[in-house]
Amino acid sequence: MKKKFNIAFIFISFILFLSISINPAISKEPGKNKNLDEKVGKFLESHRDQWVDWNVSEVDGKVLYDLIIRNNYTKALDIGTSTGHSAIWIAWALSKTGGKLITIEIHEGRYKKALVNFKEAGLSEYIDARLADAHELVKELEGPFDFIFSDADKEWYKNYFVALEPKLEVGGCFTAHNVTWKSSRGIKEFLDYVLSLPNFETKIDRSSQQGISISCKKAEK
Ligand SMILES: C[S@@+](CC[C@H](N)C(=O)[O-])C[C@H]1O[C@@H](n2cnc3c(N)ncnc32)[C@H](O)[C@@H]1O
Repeated sequence: MKKKFNIAFIFISFILFLSISINPAISKEPGKNKNLDEKVGKFLESHRDQWVDWNVSEVDGKVLYDLIIRNNYTKALDIGTSTGHSAIWIAWALSKTGGKLITIEIHEGRYKKALVNFKEAGLSEYIDARLADAHELVKELEGPFDFIFSDADKEWYKNYFVALEPKLEVGGCFTAHNVTWKSSRGIKEFLDYVLSLPNFETKIDRSSQQGISISCKKAEK
C-alpha cells in the first residue's frame, strides 16, 4: 500500500515538474509576474477613460490578450501603435508566454506618447516600438511571426496581409480591427481576399466590440 502511494507521489511530482518546465506561460518567476500584473492592472485602471486616439476598446484588447495566451504565441506584430492601447494588451500577454512585440507607428507625437505609456505600464522590455511607415517596414521585417494585429490604414489591410503572409508561421494568425465597417472599400477587399484563401481559416470574433477578424494559417499553401 505504502509502495503504491510512493509511486503515485513520484509520478504526480514528475508530471508537475514537466508542465512547469515545458509551459512558458507558467512563470519561473512568479513574483516578477505578480508585480507586473499589478502594475499593468493599475495602469489600465487609471487610464481607462483616456484612450482617445482611435485606440481599441478594453473589450477588444482582452480579445487579443486571450488569443495570445490560448495559443501560446510569442512573436507578435502590431501595425498602428497610436498611443499604445492594443500594444499594451498584446505585450501583457507576451510577458506570460515569453514573447516579444514589434509595433509600428508613423505619427511621431503618438509614438512618443506610446513609449511613455509602455514605460508606465512596466512593459517596455517586451516591446520594440518603431517610428516608421508600415507600408515600407513590413516588407523589411524578417519575421517569422505567429500573431499579427492590423489596425492602421484600412485601405492598406490587404497589402499588409500579402506582405506578411509568407512571414506568418503555420498555426499563427493575422488579426484585423474594425472589419465590421461595411462602408470601407479596403475592409471589403481585405475580407474577400482572406476568405478566398484555402490555407487560411477566417472568423470574425463575436465578442469583439469593434469587429476583429482572425485569420489562422492552416498550411503554407
Ligand atoms: C486606429 S489607430 C491604432 C490604435 C492602436 N491599435 C491602439 O489600440 O492604441 C491607427 C494608427 O495607425 C497609424 N498609421 C496609419 N497609417 C500608418 C502607416 N502607414 N504606418 C504606420 N502607422 C500608420 C495612425 O497614425 C494611427 O495612430
